[in-house]
Amino acid sequence: MDISPHHFSANYAAELDRNDKLKKFRDHFYIPQSGGKDSVYFLGNSLGLRPKSTRDEILKVLDSWANYGVEGFFMGNDPWLDYHKKVNPLLKQILGALETEIVTMNHLTVNLHLLMISFYQPTPTRYKILCEAKAFPSDQYALQSQVRLHGLNPDEVIIKVNAREGTEVISNNDILQAIEDHKDSLALVMIGGVNYYTGQVFDMEAICKAAKNSGAYVGFDLAHAAGNIELKLHDWEVDFACWCNYKYLNSGPGAIAGAFIHQMHLNRTDLKRLEGWWGNDIANRFKMEEGFTPSNSAESWQLSTTPMMALAAHFSSLKIFEDAGFGNLLEKSKMLSEYLFFVLDSINTVEKHFSILTPRAANERGCQVSLSVNKNARQIFDQLLPLGIFADWREPDVIRIAPVPLYNTFSEIFTFAQTLKKLLTL
Ligand SMILES: Cc1ncc(COP(=O)(O)O)c(C=O)c1O
Repeated sequence: MDISPHHFSANYAAELDRNDKLKKFRDHFYIPQSGGKDSVYFLGNSLGLRPKSTRDEILKVLDSWANYGVEGFFMGNDPWLDYHKKVNPLLKQILGALETEIVTMNHLTVNLHLLMISFYQPTPTRYKILCEAKAFPSDQYALQSQVRLHGLNPDEVIIKVNAREGTEVISNNDILQAIEDHKDSLALVMIGGVNYYTGQVFDMEAICKAAKNSGAYVGFDLAHAAGNIELKLHDWEVDFACWCNYKYLNSGPGAIAGAFIHQMHLNRTDLKRLEGWWGNDIANRFKMEEGFTPSNSAESWQLSTTPMMALAAHFSSLKIFEDAGFGNLLEKSKMLSEYLFFVLDSINTVEKHFSILTPRAANERGCQVSLSVNKNARQIFDQLLPLGIFADWREPDVIRIAPVPLYNTFSEIFTFAQTLKKLLTL
């Protein structure tokens, strides 16, 4: 994108919007209103907006239920038993996964626990888990409780890679070095693909290679990555991953989540796993026989009946991703964040009001940019919502914003920068 100083203008932002080939997709979403007009919603990293089509997709399930009762699993236009076969082809590009490696079920933290049952089986010599310092609290609690489940002490087992003094960003080299340092005792590397606080994207490919070389499994929490950045879970040979669908994937509050298990593990009989009837091969799931027959796909990890209304909401959003083209969305996302960095730099010239925690390199971040505000951070943040701007607060002084390519605009970025400029100099 060609940006020069005079591009800090409403006109230039409007021109970028006019040239945006994805602009019609904004109309597929409900935009929260503020003072009778569209607000600036930069919280797609927290709860993605509601697609207009979600209601109809859920209604189809309700109608099927009304028309066929339990036979809705087998009858109607979209029998529920096969519904996931509509979902996986839409997810595979977003995740860089094979359809058989994906299962949509439960919630993120639940899935992390289920996957750690399979991929964290410590031995007297291999028992350590390596993760990023200040990982999302739910990940920390999951790791610690899994370690305790095995009778081990989290303080002795969990290795946290810290950011260096003076930065919040963790060096990828430090992660690789830590893997090397603990290679003989490492059982698992479990890292958030995109850090929730800084928006930093970790070098998942390199981490996978290093973990494999050391003989450890590697798993990622992709809450902030799925639908936000390019992923190649299959090619990178990620062992497992889990994510939520309510952020960038717009599938609603508390949406049904996802899990990935690499093909190389799907037919293994030596892997421990918690099992339930929905993971049993469909060919004999309803025969109610003794003995579990795995479905030889990630579905083997599914314990319970799929919540169909939740899956329909997920499908409605994935359809929009398909129509827009994930590659196009990634391209627009880069342009939005490039413009965001430009306008932020433009208002932060003489007196430095804030520092940007998020890495600047395009391959080290997605949509989210995190600002650490030097003075009156909380007061400034509190004035954003009354002015029609949805952003998010993280202690002690961080404002996170995430302009997403499906429904945000360059003009909104300009409005945000102008508003922030006023608030910073009050
Ligand atoms: C990085 C990360 N991990 C885990 C979670 C927890 O997700 P859930 O409540 O769906 O289990 C979140 C929620 O926002 C998150 O951002």
